[in-house]
Amino acid sequence: MSDRKPLISGNWKMNLNHFEALKLVQELSYQVSVDDVEEVDVSLHPPFTDIRTVQTVLEADRLPFHLGAQHCHHEDSGAFTGEVSPAMLAKLNISYVLAGHSERREIFGESDALINLKVKAILKYEMTPILCCGETLEERDAGQAEAKVSGQIVAGLDGLTSEQVTNMVVAYEPIWAIGTGITASAEDAQGMCAVVRSTIAETFGADAAAGIRIQYGGSVKPNNAKELMSQPDIDGALVGGACLEADSFARIIQYRLAE
Ligand code: 13P
Repeated sequence: MSDRKPLISGNWKMNLNHFEALKLVQELSYQVSVDDVEEVDVSLHPPFTDIRTVQTVLEADRLPFHLGAQHCHHEDSGAFTGEVSPAMLAKLNISYVLAGHSERREIFGESDALINLKVKAILKYEMTPILCCGETLEERDAGQAEAKVSGQIVAGLDGLTSEQVTNMVVAYEPIWAIGTGITASAEDAQGMCAVVRSTIAETFGADAAAGIRIQYGGSVKPNNAKELMSQPDIDGALVGGACLEADSFARIIQYRLAE
């Protein structure tokens, strides 16, 4: 058994206004106990407009969830209309920031080089990047999944130290499993997370590979979380749809209790 503490993250995507956010966080706090979070770290990634509200309730009620963001720019400030800087996020006591989610890559054209700048900017402000990677169905069918994912990892982590990588998080999210209800089999998810870990071992050494936490994402639900989480190279889950409801997200956080 590794001593990596699992990280279950809820990516709200572009859902819930700040009133709805407050309600969800409060409902979640009734269902998740302090004992649960001794076993797993939990992070919530609301839209920017909700972050201050969620921060306030987490701090006022001392709720045991880490605050996260879904995206940021890589500069500290400047003429970048519509963007939010890592410096601003750090001021809101954000712990984790997603970088290179496939929706950012595919819809907004983010390149590996840009994502690498974001990873460095997030680290500069002492937050933890969650670097996302994953292949399309066409790439999988063409036998290119491993090359795609290891290429994203090498490019996304370029220029980092082994120590920085040790404390980071990678999320492997096959694009064909996102929002489709089709989950990768535990075996396939494990195989790809093992590829991520061996890529990190080759580039940054054994300690970095042993320390970094690797999440699986893509249609994670209460009924499949336990099997996925029992795989040796899967250290957490990045959850989309199922995190928008307190009951289903709580049951994923409590995956150990599932039948
Ligand atoms: P779903 O859980 O809705 O498939 O989304 C996964 C995801 O993209 C999380 O970042």
